[in-house]
Parts: sequence; C-alpha cells; structure tokens
Amino acid sequence: MEIIKVVNPQMGGKKAFELFKASIESGAETIGLATGSTPITFYEAVINSDIDLSHVTSVNLDEYVGLSHENKQSYAYFMNDQLFKYKKLKASYLPNGETDDIDKEISRYNDILARHPIDFQILGIGSNGHIGFNEPGTSFDSTTQLVQLAPSTIESNARFFDTIYEVPTEAISMGIANIMAAKRIVLIAYGETKAEAIYNTVHGSVTEQVPASILQRHPNVTIIVDEAAGKLI
Ligand code: GLP
Repeated sequence: MEIIKVVNPQMGGKKAFELFKASIESGAETIGLATGSTPITFYEAVINSDIDLSHVTSVNLDEYVGLSHENKQSYAYFMNDQLFKYKKLKASYLPNGETDDIDKEISRYNDILARHPIDFQILGIGSNGHIGFNEPGTSFDSTTQLVQLAPSTIESNARFFDTIYEVPTEAISMGIANIMAAKRIVLIAYGETKAEAIYNTVHGSVTEQVPASILQRHPNVTIIVDEAAGKLI
C-alpha cells in the first residue's frame, strides 16, 4: 500500500486527480466512482481540468434504496451535480435504488460490472471501516447486494438529511469482491473521525470486521490522507 499525506482536502483532490489522469492516459476505460463528502475535491479537480472522458464509462459503488433520483440525497443526484453535468462520459451506471425488483437490479448491476471491469476505483471510507456500503461483517466474497446500513452509518449520514428518520436504512452496494477486482484503487480519507479506520485498514489484521482491511491484499492501492485521518499511521 502506498500512503500519501496531504495538507488538506484540496491537495488531496489534486493528488487523486493526478493518479486518475495517469490511469486514463495509460488506457483506463472504466472508472469506479464514489460519493460522500470526501471525493468532492477530486471531482472539482476533474471538472476544472481539460481531461477528455468521452471514451470512459463509470460505475458507481452504491445507492440508497427508496430515494428518487431527483432527491438531493440520492447518489444519482450527487453524481449528476458533482460531475456528470460538467463532464461528458461515454456511459454512467449506478444501482437503481428505486427498483421494485431488487434481485433483478442486483443481477443487472453484476452484469454491468462483468462487462465493464474497473480500471481505476475511487473509494472513501466510513468511520467504521466500510467501503461502498459494505458494513463490518460483510463477506470478502460478496458481489453486488442489498445491504442494511449500520446504525453508526445512519447516524453519520444523518448530517445530510433534515432528520435521522429520513436516512434510508437500506442500500444496493457493489460487494467487496467487485471492489477488489479493480486494477487500481485510490482510497481517500480526511478528518479525525477516519483516523482509527485508517489505522485498522493499514496496520490492523485483515478481517471482515474492518471491510477496508482487505485492501492490504490488493496489489495496487494508494491511500491519500490528511494529517488528521493519518495521525495514527
Ligand atoms: C457513505 C458512502 C461511502 C463513503 C462513506 C464516507 O456511507 N456509501 O462510499 O465512503 O459514506 O462518507 P464521507 O466521505 O462523507 O465521510
């Protein structure tokens, strides 16, 4: 694992963009994208650049179940707002959290991932070590699935909603095996609330109790942290 420490999220976004650009220049055709507050400065760097993504396909990690894509908290809305309305991509896929047939949606998404192997994956991390919405205890062999959000995830994501009762309790998420299949992974974390999860990811034992710890077994991972998130490593 390569660790890069940066002074703030702006520099983190720039650094992640440099790595992203290098992958695109060496032929990456499918990019795995993440939501949450962490990748925002990365998306800013992408849209402020002249990088051409018109030949690139994106697949997102996850989506809440039950939110309309017009709801500002849905990941479909987020992606459009942060990236897609500014940069033209060849095609973009997210799980459809509005489906009334979850099993069919899961198999549709796994088919998409099989057709579009991920060359470059951007990841955030939950303070409990989750990646995508794969909570502690998720099998390392998991593929796209319906997940129940951990109470700690609902609490930390409540900041984006008017009340905690509006936070969906379920999501559709790529599984750990899908994430591990990416050729190159760049995980970004900022702030003290991520420090323990980053310590466990980098130095802890590889355990399903810390989903991100599996990244120790991936051959091409870079972790970008600010001082606070990296203070224990
Ligand atoms: C959400 C997302 C994750 C994200 C995490 C951290 O639960 N499903 O993909 O990495 O939260 O979010 P933030 O970057 O806002 O701290």
